[in-house]
Amino acid sequence: MPFSRIIGTGGYLPERVLTNTDIENLVDTTDSWIIARSGIRERRIVAEDEFTCDLAEKASRKAIQAAGKRPSDIDLIIVATSTPDVVFPSTACLLQERLGIIGPPAFDVQAVCAGFLFAIDVADKFIRTQSAKCALVVGAETFSRILDWSDRRTCVLFGDGAGAVILESSDEPGILSTHLHSDGRFKDLLCVPTGVSRNYQKLQDGGAYVTMEGGEVFRWAVTAMSDIVQETLDANSMTLDQIDWLVPHQANSRIISAIGKRLGLPVNKVVMTVEKHGNTSAASVPLALDEAVRDHRVKPGNFVLIEGFGGGFTWGSAMIKM
Ligand code: UT7
Repeated sequence: MPFSRIIGTGGYLPERVLTNTDIENLVDTTDSWIIARSGIRERRIVAEDEFTCDLAEKASRKAIQAAGKRPSDIDLIIVATSTPDVVFPSTACLLQERLGIIGPPAFDVQAVCAGFLFAIDVADKFIRTQSAKCALVVGAETFSRILDWSDRRTCVLFGDGAGAVILESSDEPGILSTHLHSDGRFKDLLCVPTGVSRNYQKLQDGGAYVTMEGGEVFRWAVTAMSDIVQETLDANSMTLDQIDWLVPHQANSRIISAIGKRLGLPVNKVVMTVEKHGNTSAASVPLALDEAVRDHRVKPGNFVLIEGFGGGFTWGSAMIKM
């Protein structure tokens, strides 16, 4: 059975920078509170006429170029997003049309901030079972559109962006293992309680916004993302010192530090981008991975453990040999 390998990464952030000082003008908060409680200094926000698919397209083109491929080489497209352009068609289908790829399957997966891990898992299985040879896997979000900009508990935390990888079939590993979990009992702790089938009138009247019990989510995120690192190591009969890089979901620098401390992983093995991006949900892990690949922290042959945690709750990881 072949493996899937990451052969190219790409990322895109919208041009507009929103600093903590800018947010001080919107809600009762301070730059120092946001930095102290989350580590975030700034985030990117889409322009009025910019949508999730626009970000996905830019990140995808960079990943395709980095992989030395053409769009016509791609035979599977998966987009992880909770902020699709429209209810349907899927953002993956919109992206497929933009890239001029006709025929192969294109679909979205929705697992909020863990979405990219779910998408990687599915793409890896397509490739391993020889249903696809070259997959485009994207995490893309415009969370700024589902934030209540008068709620200081949430609006300071999120940003917009997209990250993408190209996975190719290979005799060499590759993605060594993937691990996914969900627990719907916690559905109310982090959610957008308005939708198409439920509370549609509310959606028409006032919009759909993220609500979060921050403290509870924080505790679960640290526990779940620490435990899944151990699960991933055990599945590969590896120890922590064999990992070159941990690329965790970028929600809060304190969550990332707490995971590192719990595991005993030195900070110089952890990729951290939350300071400049905020929490970009499904885009956070591929954006962080792309940044670390492009600045040569992550090198060919490195063992990289990626992991995410999000609403649902959902969480997942992958052990990757780059
Ligand atoms: O992608 C996965 C989803 N998200 C996450 O993983 C985020 C998880 N949670 C967190 O990152 C943190 O819980 C937060 C950053 C959201 C909050 O940090 P905290 O240390 O847990 O603060 P807190 O919720 O305990 O709030 C402390 C105080 C409260 O005031 P009182 O009740 O103690 O008087 C809040 O009202 O800070 C207040 N507060 C703020 N103050 C200034 C909450 N938000 C703000 C704000 N500016 N933006």
